Formats: sequence, C-alpha cells, structure tokens
Amino acid sequence: MTEGGDRGDDPNDHLLEILGGKHRAQALSTAAALGIADRLVADGARDSATLARETGCGDVAALDSLLRLLAGLGFLSEPTPGCFAITELGRTLCRDRLGAFAEFVGAAEQWDAWARLRDAIRTPERGTAFERAVDRGLYEFLATDAAAARRYDAAIEAFTRYEGIRLGERLDIPDGATIVDIGGGRGTLLLELLAHRPAARGVLFDLPHVIENVAAAFAGQPDTERIELTPGDFFSGIPRGGDVYLLKHVLHNWDDDRAAELLRACATAMAPNGRIVAIDALLAPDNRPDLARMLDLEMRVLTGGRERRKPELRQLFASAGLVLGQLERLTAASWLLVAERRP
Ligand SMILES: C[S@@+](CC[C@H](N)C(=O)[O-])C[C@H]1O[C@@H](n2cnc3c(N)ncnc32)[C@H](O)[C@@H]1O
Repeated sequence: MTEGGDRGDDPNDHLLEILGGKHRAQALSTAAALGIADRLVADGARDSATLARETGCGDVAALDSLLRLLAGLGFLSEPTPGCFAITELGRTLCRDRLGAFAEFVGAAEQWDAWARLRDAIRTPERGTAFERAVDRGLYEFLATDAAAARRYDAAIEAFTRYEGIRLGERLDIPDGATIVDIGGGRGTLLLELLAHRPAARGVLFDLPHVIENVAAAFAGQPDTERIELTPGDFFSGIPRGGDVYLLKHVLHNWDDDRAAELLRACATAMAPNGRIVAIDALLAPDNRPDLARMLDLEMRVLTGGRERRKPELRQLFASAGLVLGQLERLTAASWLLVAERRP
C-alpha cells in the first residue's frame, strides 16, 4: 500500500471513490454558495481566517477543511502554507461561469429530493422524490420560494451559457419571423436568435414568477424591446400564431403523456408553416455514464420527467401529429430537434 492508501485495483476502493462524489459535490456547491472563487479572483490569495471573516463564516476550522479538499481537487492552490489561491479550474466556480449551477446542485431542496430517490423508486404512486421532500412539485415549489426560484433560474442560465449553443446563425429561421420560446426561462436563447435577425420578434413564455423576474432584468437591455413577455401555464394555453416554437430543455421535464400534450399544444398554436425547434439531451443506445445519463436520473428525481433515445423521441413527436426531421448533435447534453406538422 502506498502512503496515500492507494490499494490499486481493489473494487472496494473503487466503490468508496465513487461514493466520494457526494462529498466533492457538496464541497464545491458550498464553496460556490459562499462565493469563495469570486473573492479569491477579486482579492487574491488569503488564509482561511480572512476568508471566513469576509464570507461571514463562523467555523474557521471547517472552512479550512473545505478549502483543503478543494485544493486537493485542483480548484485551489496553496502558494504559501495556509494561504489559498484560485486556479484555472477553480474559476469555473465563479458567478459568470458555472458557480450558480454548482450552488443549485447542493442546495437543500435538491439534496433532500435525492435522499428520497429510494422511496420514489419503491412507491412511485406516492409522488416524485422532489414532491416527497417538499410536499409540492418542483415548479409549484419555486413559485412560492423566491430564493430557490432565483437559484434555479440562475443555474439554468449558467448551464445555457456553458452550453454556448450558438444557434443564431445556424438555425434556418427567416428574419421577420415570430419566435415563441416556451418555458424560455431568462430568455438567453431567444435574445441570441434575435441578435442575428433584426426584423424578427420574440415571445418569451414562462410561469408568472419567472416572467416577473425577467421583466426587471430586461429593463434597458438591447433587443429586449422586441420581446413580448407572456406569463402563463403551458398546460392551460400558449401564445398562438408564431412561426417557430422553441422548447429548450423543457420536454425532458415531463413524462410522455405531458410532453406529447405540450407538443400538441405547440402544433395547434403555430402558424400554418410553423416549426417546432426543440433542444434536449439524447440518451445513447448503450449505458455510458455521460451527462445525458445523469440528467435522466435528475429529471426523474426533480420532475418525474426523463431523457429519451432517438426512437423514443421520434415516437413522441409522432404521437403529437408531428414529423421529426432534423436531429443534430449540438453539445454533450444537447441535440437539436426540428419538427413540422405531419402533411
Ligand atoms: C429546465 S428550464 C429551461 C429554461 C430555458 N428554456 C433554458 O433552457 O434556458 C424549464 C423551464 O420551464 C418552465 N416551466 C415549467 N413548467 C411550466 C409551465 N407549466 N408553464 C410555463 N413554463 C413552465 C420553468 O419555469 C423553466 O423556466
């Protein structure tokens, strides 16, 4: 055995290493929530006591343990004993990178929901793991908890930024089109599409609490005057007459019946030559543990939704009277799906 306890190919070690994902994920999430990376970038290297004071932490020793784990993982360095500095990897935890996403992953409501996965698998009739944790579905909960809603919207926005889906020039959407973003969150994708089409207009449709926050964030931003902010519930009705209906990371939130209902609503609402442009993960035919596979379980925990394989997606669109044409890989967790009404 080496000094670090490395026992080579022992499967027990392998199991413990994988289970350590819990500790690593929560340590990273806590660091993001405390704003450690942004502070080290702004103010340079500092010791645990200084960081504890600056971030309002009363337990210096526990913060020191956290920082040492992060240093071991390569997110921080220790240029002089007891003093921590940010590394290139550590910068991914900043607010303008994936910090908001990391914070969301370890937030109490997420953690509690995952602890209920075993119950949800045993007795699905009693609700999703998330419903068991907070007594409500994810979106009902977010409508009543402003801090959690801000965390969620910021996390999705950070993930969307990370994906860097530059669809602006690639998508064949004519200038002058009306683009309706269904469940469009903070409108990140819609704004990118409009930036390349000066005569196009957008409709951003999402739940009332999301649209309320977007309205404040949009004030004075370029191109936002071409976006109509429309609050609502897409299972009760969606804006009609658009040329393109965007559904980015929305279908995977729902089981097949609800996803087909949403697709049918878009098909009914869109203009005669309208199109649906969906972006979602795609499950590989094998069991590789990629991001799509992780998101599949995440959807089951949070909303009762799921990721899908190619034939399942074709079947889903067909069940809503649509033909899925273009199917193209964009990023590790995103595929572009373009569908039209069946002739
Ligand atoms: C995973 S997020 C995707 C956000 C955005 N499309 C993106 O990819 O950045 C799902 C979005 O669907 C919205 N949503 C969930 N249920 C909804 C409903 N019943 N009606 C309208 N929007 C809903 C959520 O508020 C959230 O913004």
